[in-house]
Amino acid sequence: MKAEDRNTPQSYYHFDDAAREVIIRRYDTPTPWLNYFSNGTFHTMMSQAGGAMAFHKSPQIWRINRYRFFHLPTDRSGLYYYIQDKNTRQYWCPTAEPAFTKPTKWHAAHGLGYSRFDAEHNGIRAELLYFVGKYENCVIWNLKLTNLSKDKKELELFAFVEFGMMEFQRELSWICYNKHQVKVLFDNKLEALVYVYGVEMQPKPEETPLVYFAADVGLSGFDGDRDEFIGPYRSESNPYAIERGGCTQSTLLGGDPCGALQVSIILEPGESKCINTVLGTAMSRDEVARSVAHCREGDFIAKSFVALKEEWRRHLGHFQCELEDKSAERMVNIWNPYQAQRNFQFSRNISYYATGTFRGTGFRDTSQDVLSQTPIDIEAARRKVCELLKQQYSDGHANHYFYPYEGWKPVDRLHSDNHIWPILAVWNIVMESGTVDYLHEEVPFCDGGQGSVYEHLCRAIRFTKAHMGANGFPLMLTSDWNDMLYKVCREGRGESIWMSMFLGFALPKMAELADLIGKERDAAEFRSFWQEQRTVVNEKAWDGEWFRRATMDNGQYLGTQQADEAKLFINTQTWAVISGMVDEERARNAMDAVRKYLDTDLGLMKLWPPIVKFPTPQDPLSHYNKGCGENSSIFCHANTWAIIAECLLGRGDIAWKYYSQLIPNVAMDRAGAWRYKAEPFVYSSNLFGPESDKFGLANNSWLTGTAAWMYVAVTQYILGVRPVWEGLIVNPCVPSGWKQFRITRVFRGCCMEITVKNPLGVNQGVKAMWVAGRQISLAGGPLVPAVLLDKHASTEVVVEMGNGVEGVSL
Ligand code: GLC
Repeated sequence: MKAEDRNTPQSYYHFDDAAREVIIRRYDTPTPWLNYFSNGTFHTMMSQAGGAMAFHKSPQIWRINRYRFFHLPTDRSGLYYYIQDKNTRQYWCPTAEPAFTKPTKWHAAHGLGYSRFDAEHNGIRAELLYFVGKYENCVIWNLKLTNLSKDKKELELFAFVEFGMMEFQRELSWICYNKHQVKVLFDNKLEALVYVYGVEMQPKPEETPLVYFAADVGLSGFDGDRDEFIGPYRSESNPYAIERGGCTQSTLLGGDPCGALQVSIILEPGESKCINTVLGTAMSRDEVARSVAHCREGDFIAKSFVALKEEWRRHLGHFQCELEDKSAERMVNIWNPYQAQRNFQFSRNISYYATGTFRGTGFRDTSQDVLSQTPIDIEAARRKVCELLKQQYSDGHANHYFYPYEGWKPVDRLHSDNHIWPILAVWNIVMESGTVDYLHEEVPFCDGGQGSVYEHLCRAIRFTKAHMGANGFPLMLTSDWNDMLYKVCREGRGESIWMSMFLGFALPKMAELADLIGKERDAAEFRSFWQEQRTVVNEKAWDGEWFRRATMDNGQYLGTQQADEAKLFINTQTWAVISGMVDEERARNAMDAVRKYLDTDLGLMKLWPPIVKFPTPQDPLSHYNKGCGENSSIFCHANTWAIIAECLLGRGDIAWKYYSQLIPNVAMDRAGAWRYKAEPFVYSSNLFGPESDKFGLANNSWLTGTAAWMYVAVTQYILGVRPVWEGLIVNPCVPSGWKQFRITRVFRGCCMEITVKNPLGVNQGVKAMWVAGRQISLAGGPLVPAVLLDKHASTEVVVEMGNGVEGVSL
């Protein structure tokens, strides 16, 4: 590698869109570039270099192998195969890492729910595929070895995984004692290693699985004791057993556990052989035996992989588009919905950055994640929202995080926004399905009693109504969406202006739901609350050039021209527009301030200028370094709302700028690979801002609210396809240069093939619309009416943009 190459994105990867893969050409990416495999019960995250962590249901308490966060060397340990030439004793790994000898030819590929490696060394080609299938709870390591040389090859193959304590947090504190309560046994009959996590005082011992590690060919050795396999002062790079003649047949009754399986292989010239290894979980020894036997059936691997591919084909088929901009098209069609699904599943739990120790499921985070899944998997969305609503108290507020598997007490910190988020999720579910039945589903409250979904949402609003501050905005409580604001309200008086605007968005939706089920009094109550909040926002929140952000305990406003730092916050500009509470002139001015002060060409800063000594040097509002994290970084989640706001203002060129500059591969091209560092195929939570010496460095990739909201922003606002009760709105807001694009959208069982034409090069506005060849009236807005949906066929929709109907508001 030439030194300058490390900043060149093309030296690391390219996309293969037809295969829905990203091909990674170098194992030494600037940070580990991760992928996730999952069947809903068994999960694995894996990097382009084979670094991996597998877990059963919960990374907090049923972690299978050890992944050493923040240690050097980075990205260890993983799920590794070593291939050793019996004669030369040289060994290497198809994953490139962790052996010192690297393959001479190599690439990795991340696909949807799988990763594969294609490597060659010393006349041997290794094609290795890892994935989790739906038929068994295991990660499959499917290896095909081919002898490309003219000589017969005698190989020793080692599959290795380092087990750890399943409870990671307790491992950090109690390993010295607890390590002697684990076992690794060898089941002779089954030819499989079984890891038994027998540690006392586990939260749910009866639900703790056994872990098996088995191959589908005869073994020539095994180890269950890490010391025996790796040896002293060595690592996964140079295991003692591999260098000194093979596995030692160790089991483990206390100590540091691992799983190592050795297989001897002879390959004639040109010959190929497949070896499959499975690392999985089962609840009893009988189940282990049944599961391993199933995995060893001849068609098991192929069948599992075909089913996985089919699942993702179906998942993504709900929304596909053809755009001129291929980076955007790829994001909309493949990587954004993929990432959004992983967020929906894992909340902010476990990634290269999040250690999977305490976060569990975040109430506000997951409520937002639901928004991306509703159009794709409405049943999953419904179940998830019910799971969330069970975390709501009968007075209407909700827990902040909870632990669906761990049996731990939820974190009950009281934030002003948590309980309001499900309103958006439920409204979307109702609009997507076109039925109100979900509103009537009964869900318990976490402190006793139960109520319908609708009742839960009403209580959420009434809780907020009962917790208003002296100025008439909702009290901030512990903080609103922006966790950093906890310091403005430690004495309980700080108020959130953003919350008023958030209510501006939520209350009309609640009123609509109330109307749909004939609750006129409720609807009137929500509308009058909206009016009150609108008045307060307009009377007290405007600062002259933008909207203020909050009031602080001392009664002063945050986010004002007068302050030296933190003058301007993005959220109260974007949400002023989204709320529909402010007049057009202020809305435009506020978003102009965003463009003028917050845009960096690599995304919009969350606030400006950065905080160093505001409000006092002793107790600044943020301890993040300038330009990092919550302090003037480009906070991608908050950028999505600016895209939506610009679309609502009809400013398609600006919306597009904000959208396209954050497409990860575009941002990486702009910043340089070594500066951007994180995956170029999924969103990161934030990029360091211009005040940082590492402007453009992406952090906390994969698990971020950016995924869901970016998907909403691009599909519902830029491309403009969003469900309402009466049907499907098609009201794009695009750059004026776009002449035509196509969308396939499955809606209420009907597959709509939408072509949008923009002959006049406008940003927004629909002049005419045809459904199945018939021109329809635009009196109700640019809408495909539900009555025209044909459930059994696809319906052609043609939309002609021009200076016509601007579309209905949110
Ligand atoms: C993080 C949190 C999210 C919060 C945001 C802003 O992304 O996961 O809950 O809203 O930071 O503080």
